[in-house]
Amino acid sequence: MQARGPLMIEHRLIERMLVKIQVTLAQVEQTQKIDPLFVDKAVDFIRTYADRTHHGKEEDILFRELNQKELSDVDRKAMDELIEEHIFGRSTTKALVEANTLYRNGDATALGDIARCLRTLVEFYPKHIEKEDKIFFPASRAYFSEAEDQAMLAEFLDFDQRMIHEKYKSVMLSV
Ligand SMILES: [Fe+2]
Ligand SMILES: [Fe+2]
Repeated sequence: MQARGPLMIEHRLIERMLVKIQVTLAQVEQTQKIDPLFVDKAVDFIRTYADRTHHGKEEDILFRELNQKELSDVDRKAMDELIEEHIFGRSTTKALVEANTLYRNGDATALGDIARCLRTLVEFYPKHIEKEDKIFFPASRAYFSEAEDQAMLAEFLDFDQRMIHEKYKSVMLSV
């Protein structure tokens, strides 16, 4: 498998979560309410899986290695945009958590903010994934030898192996 393999497999799971969020958004429009526990689960998925585990591999390994290469202006700009989008995703998720806290505490008007944040995520994230899958990952691959690509793949798997421990250490510390 190429190094981008695990990243693309993760994209597929993220897409399935986005479909669930879309379904929930349609229900919110009809019922004018949301289950705060659904939002908790979506936030945990986004933060632990999409951001820490997935963006973590992109930023801490792939982008770090690309920074050692002489990137074309187009590829450099694309990488900067992807990083900006990761930051945007984090700030949207933070706003979602804040709105969900208000909503859970009885502020029904926070539903609008929750829905806006969820809609933002389902609208921007598929474009981000498509840019990586179809343009950026294939372009990135050209900068690496087979050995370098396989070394990244090994580092990705090592990174993943640490995630479950990091996640449950944070759960333990939070209680
Ligand atoms: Fe990304
Ligand atoms: Fe990605």
